[in-house]
Amino acid sequence: MDKKSIIILGIESSCDDTSAAVIIDAKVQSNIVANQEVHQSFGGVVPELASRAHQQNIVPVVNEALKVANINKEQIDAIAFTRGPGLMGSLLVGTSFAKSLSMGLDIPLIAVNHMKGHIMAHFIDEGQEFPQLPFLCLTVSGGHTQIIKINKDFDMQVLGETIDDAAGEAFDKSAKILGLTYPGGPIIDKYAELGNPHKFVFTKPRVGKLEFSFSGLKSNILQRIQIEVKNDSDFISKNIHDLCASIQYTIVSILLEKMDNAVQQEKITQIAIAGGVSANSGLRKALRAREKSHGWSVFIPKLEYCTDNAAMIAIEGFHKFKNKNFSDSGITAHARIKI
Ligand code: KG4
Ligand code: ZN
Repeated sequence: MDKKSIIILGIESSCDDTSAAVIIDAKVQSNIVANQEVHQSFGGVVPELASRAHQQNIVPVVNEALKVANINKEQIDAIAFTRGPGLMGSLLVGTSFAKSLSMGLDIPLIAVNHMKGHIMAHFIDEGQEFPQLPFLCLTVSGGHTQIIKINKDFDMQVLGETIDDAAGEAFDKSAKILGLTYPGGPIIDKYAELGNPHKFVFTKPRVGKLEFSFSGLKSNILQRIQIEVKNDSDFISKNIHDLCASIQYTIVSILLEKMDNAVQQEKITQIAIAGGVSANSGLRKALRAREKSHGWSVFIPKLEYCTDNAAMIAIEGFHKFKNKNFSDSGITAHARIKI
């Protein structure tokens, strides 16, 4: 290992995944994620259960990350942790763990904004091309849907966002209406593969050019399903592929339309996506098509860096480390922190 290399331990516990990662400079050595299956039958994340599961998982997950990276605690230069946004009970577990470990090892503590982490995942070095500044990023997760402009020095500016539900929620709530388990996004994606995206037509919102809205879509899907199920109780199972394909098509079309508007407004064609929904195959395919049809340069993270993970927290920590942007031990979690 290069003597001047920087080793960062990243910790992520904002929602229902407990994750720890080790990076050396911008290269990932380990990225361990413990998913919490306990929420599946509830149709969504239960905050108290999430917090308890983080408490159980955090020590083994961190130990595993160090073991896989072949690093011992004393070699770590700094600890980066997710300060927010997220569920308070979940954030507190990662925050207090990171604070005590940094105190015990007497190394710097670096607070990371979870959404910035999603965007910075593009700068994990795996030999790929990085987006050039300035670029536009569509961040789509379970809690956020935003178009961000990433300016010089990684200064981030929100150009537009959702006025109600996030894109991930739109997937998850639609899935719940169809009787699918949580999180429904990946299940809709899977069923959509074999379906006709034009079989069912759902409403698109009428909001500002760079704004999103998904609550009307949810009501529209619910009403349609209720009417159809009255006539045929097997309607959902008979049409599951077409329903999922049509729902996915509608959500992806809404996202793409807004990105088109942002590109037109900003005259920037370096386009990235980030957050859990960027794992969606329909969205990935539609963006790739824009490369050919619109001349965009599209940056799509590897699947493991789309959904919540600590490598993205560690890479943002690495950039902050280089600027000596450290936090003091009095720092607290912040559930609603903005980008
Ligand atoms: O970023 P993330 O892991 O956690 C948050 O910060 O919210 O995003 C989770 C969201 C969930 O709503 C999940 O259903 C959605 O990402 N998601 C997907 C896919 N994989 C995850 N949505 C659609 N298609 C997917 N393949
Ligand atoms: Zn996330």
